[in-house]
Amino acid sequence: MRTARLALDPAFTVGPVPRRLFGSFVEHMGRCVYTGIFEPDHPSADEDGLRTDVLELTRELGPTVVRYPGGNFVSGFEWEDSVGPREDRPRRIDRAWRSVETNQFGLAEFDAWARKVGTETMMAVNLGTRGLQEACDLLEYANLDSGTKFADLRKAHGSKDPFDIKLWCLGNELDGPWQTGHKTAAEYGRLAAETGMAMRSIDPDIELVAVGSSSRAMPTFGEWEQTVLELSYHAVDYVSLHAYYQEHDGDAASFLASAVDMDLFIDQVVATADAVRAKGKHTKKINLSFDEWNVWYQSKPHHAPGVQPWDVAPRVIEDEYSVTDAVVVGTLLNSLLRHADRVHIGAQAQLVNVIGLLRSEPGKEAWKQTIAHPFEQVRRLATGNVLQVVTTSDKYETAKFDAVDVVDASATYDDETLTVFLANRDQADSASVEVPLRGFGVDRVSNAKYLAAAEGQDRHTTNLEGDHTAVGLRTLDDVTVTEGLATVVLPPLSWAVVQFRKG
Ligand code: AHR
Repeated sequence: MRTARLALDPAFTVGPVPRRLFGSFVEHMGRCVYTGIFEPDHPSADEDGLRTDVLELTRELGPTVVRYPGGNFVSGFEWEDSVGPREDRPRRIDRAWRSVETNQFGLAEFDAWARKVGTETMMAVNLGTRGLQEACDLLEYANLDSGTKFADLRKAHGSKDPFDIKLWCLGNELDGPWQTGHKTAAEYGRLAAETGMAMRSIDPDIELVAVGSSSRAMPTFGEWEQTVLELSYHAVDYVSLHAYYQEHDGDAASFLASAVDMDLFIDQVVATADAVRAKGKHTKKINLSFDEWNVWYQSKPHHAPGVQPWDVAPRVIEDEYSVTDAVVVGTLLNSLLRHADRVHIGAQAQLVNVIGLLRSEPGKEAWKQTIAHPFEQVRRLATGNVLQVVTTSDKYETAKFDAVDVVDASATYDDETLTVFLANRDQADSASVEVPLRGFGVDRVSNAKYLAAAEGQDRHTTNLEGDHTAVGLRTLDDVTVTEGLATVVLPPLSWAVVQFRKG
């Protein structure tokens, strides 16, 4: 049995749980939109052609914000193609994913979908092939009421009320050589500042996200953030981070420690943003938008066998997620929560089919992948303040990060309920975790669930088309409370949530 002990106290908080931390991402990529959220011929489709089975599962996940329409896609996107009468919308090539975009689903359709889900839209503008003017035109179309060219055009297209989008990304991954319109940090920083200021002059209430690094491994990481923020500090509110993790060559031990990298990435971006703040004598703080993160098996071929260039909605990166992947996702959510004072926005990429929390097949019923469970539980159960958690844990050796804690933890407290999110990274042994309850006014377990391989399964088990619920949440029985101390026993390779209340 491995052991760990948490130290936590209601007085030591990181900050309020930022509700926008639990976001998702819908890109016009592969089958995320077409046969993902939108499939007019599907038996469950509603009057807007939206799949109500996917809508229902999305509501259960409850993403608080959804980034749209890309991703790499946005860097070649001409938004005007996606509005107005459907029959007039052009078919365009999408260079990023070498497919054809039919534009049968566009801005108004996304707005309708987001309203039905009950989520906030985070809109990205194209700063790859386009610039300031087109970004401003789109903002005018989306947010101004009437009496100007693009606001009136929206009305003429049938959307009487403005979309009223508050959160805007100034481009996507422009630090990446793969990005259409890839730029140097100086080129992008200047463009972000000019575009941001122009957009604010149209709608002063918007919040703007500058593009940060596409991963911590980018050769320009650090320098990119510094230059971009030096040039655009006055114009933006957030800087973005993107990170995808995978198991390499069967090295599950390192993969399970991915949150170590995420912790470091966040700390380093915070340090860089604050150094620019000090140097520039700025008062405001730039916060972080971790608007693409997930497990993604990038070393596998991106396209499914048989996919041809310029197919419509091809099968692209339809990763199937295992028990191991779900445990890693749980630890990545812990990392985001641990940094809730500075990471105010998160988006697990993507929502459906494309590295998706959900999976759908044309004409059939949609289902949740394993990784949907930690996301949904943390979104539902992290309430009040995030607590500072000091974890003293047995360690294990990894090739990538040296010795890493076996137990990974985060916690929240809302004056009534103490919620602890835990992962046991040990693949063979259970882990016993001590959680002190003194000072919280709680004395009983009100909820305890875990995700791990069930009997007859192993760490590679996934939720497949034939068995949508093979991997799910189960009741965690092994939690005891004695004299202000809870002891939680986590099965090998598991993720868990335990809640404590009074009486
Ligand atoms: O989410 C898939 C892709 O990953 C996005 O299009 C891009 O922004 C990132 O590289």
